[in-house]
Amino acid sequence: MKFFIDTANLNDIKEANDLGILDGVTTNPSLMAKEGITGQQNILDHYVAICNIVDGPVSAEVISTDFEGMVREGEHLATLHKNIVVKIPMIPEGIKAIKYFNAKGIKTNCTLIFSAGQALLAAKAGATYISPFLGRLDDVSTNGLDLIAQIRLIYDNYSFNTQILAASIRHPMHIINCAELGSDVMTGPLSAIKALAKHPLTDLGLQQFLADHAKGNG
Ligand code: G3P
Repeated sequence: MKFFIDTANLNDIKEANDLGILDGVTTNPSLMAKEGITGQQNILDHYVAICNIVDGPVSAEVISTDFEGMVREGEHLATLHKNIVVKIPMIPEGIKAIKYFNAKGIKTNCTLIFSAGQALLAAKAGATYISPFLGRLDDVSTNGLDLIAQIRLIYDNYSFNTQILAASIRHPMHIINCAELGSDVMTGPLSAIKALAKHPLTDLGLQQFLADHAKGNG
């Protein structure tokens, strides 16, 4: 399973990248705003800064909601760096834009996926990735993991190449469960990625090894 980090925070991106396990980055307008990145040129520069840190796909989201606007924005985003993936919302105009970009060889990430029907449509349009939002489904008492399993089954039935990019990951169990279900990619915060490494028995064991070594070696 590929690991993407879901943030626009350059320090978090650098820290995850330095671990050596980072495959890509996802952003969205809310994550950009959270980092105080505003204004068209600053936003574009920030995507380039991210691409200069991570050698992997970087999702950059359009803010237009009409086909022509999405095409205009997406084509410009794709010129910024070879690793840019144009992130498109799951709306009818978005489906048309995904089809358009697919024909032009521009990679897309269809975002705001909350149902299997939406995932099926995005795959038929030729999306490179689809982003089902696990955590936000959990937030409304609906099991987000069930959606991942349903999409996996559908995509496997028809050998769709579209990759399932599990998004809105909130904690390490989401990551492990997505891996069990065969999600192609997960995108989550640095905290969830780092939490995978934590185990009290590892800490205790290391403490003991170091103490025993110190005893024997002064
Ligand atoms: O980037 C899309 C998605 O991961 C958002 O997550 O935590 O805002 O629900 P969240």
